[in-house]
Amino acid sequence: MGFKVQDHYFKKAKKEKYLARSIYKLEEIDEKYKVLKKGDQVIDLGYFPGSWIQYTQKVIGEEGLVVGCDIKPVNKKLMHLKNVKVFEKDVFDIQNLEELEVSKKFDVIVSDMAPNTTGIRSVDQDRSLNLIEMVFYHAPQFLRPGGNLVIKVFDSNKAQQYLKEQKNLFESFHFLKPKSTRSVSKEFFVIGKNFKA
Ligand SMILES: C[S@@+](CC[C@H](N)C(=O)[O-])C[C@H]1O[C@@H](n2cnc3c(N)ncnc32)[C@H](O)[C@@H]1O
Repeated sequence: MGFKVQDHYFKKAKKEKYLARSIYKLEEIDEKYKVLKKGDQVIDLGYFPGSWIQYTQKVIGEEGLVVGCDIKPVNKKLMHLKNVKVFEKDVFDIQNLEELEVSKKFDVIVSDMAPNTTGIRSVDQDRSLNLIEMVFYHAPQFLRPGGNLVIKVFDSNKAQQYLKEQKNLFESFHFLKPKSTRSVSKEFFVIGKNFKA
């Protein structure tokens, strides 16, 4: 059973009516690397409960669209937002753009996906890496040339090796541990800018 650490960012998110404290990770990434812009069409993999969607839909504005996919049932709290579509879908099952109800490739892919953890480090690291590999697998079909990627990674030697092999797919590739990430956490984010296709 999980529990919520009621730290500074948890309280701030509650006060500012965000659905999760993760909002501050994407906000910091976006302020530093400018991954999102007005009018963008964005896919958010593992969006639930939806604080990244709340942030993204404000930045992209009414001309933009953010599509969320998660294995959890859709969060009805997001359904009133005009520039948002959410689906109950496993990233391993997504086949094409049509099933996401879009007709062109995305400008940005963001993924905060995290597997169900077992507590066995090597198993959890492998599950996390499977999710990362799936995002990179989808990139040629889903991300337009010049598009950006933000992806959460649980650190491991295998993940580092895999990311090294992917880095040339983007013109620039950055690693960031946002301030709001708990200091004990092994997670960091990879930001790929300008997908070469
Ligand atoms: C840390 S949460 C995301 C929080 C979200 N960024 C927010 O700001 O509210 C990670 C999510 O990844 C989802 N997830 C894990 N495996 C997935 C998969 N195979 N396909 C889609 N979503 C997945 C989980 O269900 C969970 O909701």
